[in-house]
Amino acid sequence: MSERWTPDGWRAKPVQQMPQYPDAKALADVEAQLATFPPLVFAGEARNLKKALARVARGEAFLLQGGDCAESFAEHGANNIRDFFRVFLQMAVVLTYAGALPVVKVGRIAGQFAKPRSSPTEKANGIELPSYRGDIVNDIAFTAEARTPDPQRQLMAYRQSAATLNLLRAFATGGYANLASVHQWMLGFLKDSPQSRRYKELADRISEALNFMRACGLDLEAHPELRATDFYTSHEALLLGYEQAFTRVDSTTGDWYATSGHMIWIGDRTRQLDHAHIEYFRGIKNPIGLKCGPSLKPDELIKLADVLNPDNEPGRLTLITRFGHEKAGEHLPGMVRAIQREGRSVVWSCDPMHGNTITSSTGYKTRPFDRILSEVKTFFSVHAAEGTHAGGVHLEMTGQDVTECIGGARAISHEDLSDRYHTVCDPRLNAEQSIDIAFLIAELLKQERASKAEPMPAAAGL
Ligand code: PEP
Ligand code: CO
Repeated sequence: MSERWTPDGWRAKPVQQMPQYPDAKALADVEAQLATFPPLVFAGEARNLKKALARVARGEAFLLQGGDCAESFAEHGANNIRDFFRVFLQMAVVLTYAGALPVVKVGRIAGQFAKPRSSPTEKANGIELPSYRGDIVNDIAFTAEARTPDPQRQLMAYRQSAATLNLLRAFATGGYANLASVHQWMLGFLKDSPQSRRYKELADRISEALNFMRACGLDLEAHPELRATDFYTSHEALLLGYEQAFTRVDSTTGDWYATSGHMIWIGDRTRQLDHAHIEYFRGIKNPIGLKCGPSLKPDELIKLADVLNPDNEPGRLTLITRFGHEKAGEHLPGMVRAIQREGRSVVWSCDPMHGNTITSSTGYKTRPFDRILSEVKTFFSVHAAEGTHAGGVHLEMTGQDVTECIGGARAISHEDLSDRYHTVCDPRLNAEQSIDIAFLIAELLKQERASKAEPMPAAAGL
């Protein structure tokens, strides 16, 4: 791979999962227009996230990354964004309090539009049409017109990302995320669930602690970390023409940054060493993610790490492992050992969603909650055995009361899936299941900390 890098260098490489636009000129015109638009994020923010992720890599923090599989144009409303943000804050508070670790908050939001597909076409009623590739590319309706990739959709996706990000910034810094409001993040429809009672107990304890500090004379308003939160955005940077248009030089460092989101990741289907996506990612300085599925061999992972993080910079590379509950125990140890042997600094994050998708008896794509939890547990136990930090989780989730994943405290059944199945792509944890899993992960984090804090009996001389 040559040293020289340009934002359009990926165009000379083989590429996977790119839509076939019928009108090349229309596409080029849109990309040229996007290149004149303001960036969505600043390089300094991406650097702050990288520093926060470096703390995760050192075992001093935990990464919570989550959101929709695919954002949609139809569901772009303030309530959706607020409900997602609320549940995300609740999960973060559960993890911070019970796990006693700072939580780095990264949404799959404000840009998570483009989807890789297992097949380029889809068949229904004897008709074959291009697959739906996310609202940034085409429309989900099953007609030839809707499925034709339309570059104008990239302009829509940019506008939606900007508006979403604007609201998220307001929520994160404008008072909504104040820890004193910890009770108010509870969603109305969750009021009577076991999760809500558990959450309320935890919120009570936090309020008591805050009251205690106030009574001791601490001016809590003077502490920005209690009044506001750092919330970052991320997405799979699949549509490279769009990404190129938002690749800008940071004037303070002279480096190139992707300004479409703070963190971007490479999907499991587009991580070929000599292909376009790796070529694009090696040149930008953002923190990046790499999805690692069962077909990735440890020696190939090291080659990818060489290209993507040649200086072994902590916080630059997050490895998002997604094997499936039965395969994680077989594949993860080899990867962890290879990374340890080569002395690489990475964030280890677990995506327990993408290896655990099944087709329900009722025809829906779903994910069993117990398999999701089982992969998370295996992730923690492998890292405990290898002496590495189980650094984070990567979830597909929503703040809505949907019925897309089966199981969980309310035991959503195969028959329930049709009630509120709203996702345009993969099934998401609903609000209740999301809080549920946060409590369960907090327990695992607590165990990790306890095992590190206490010497083993033998070492203690017992
Ligand atoms: C995704 O995160 O939605 C996705 C497509 O994941 P993966 O690349 O791991 O299959
Ligand atoms: Co998905």
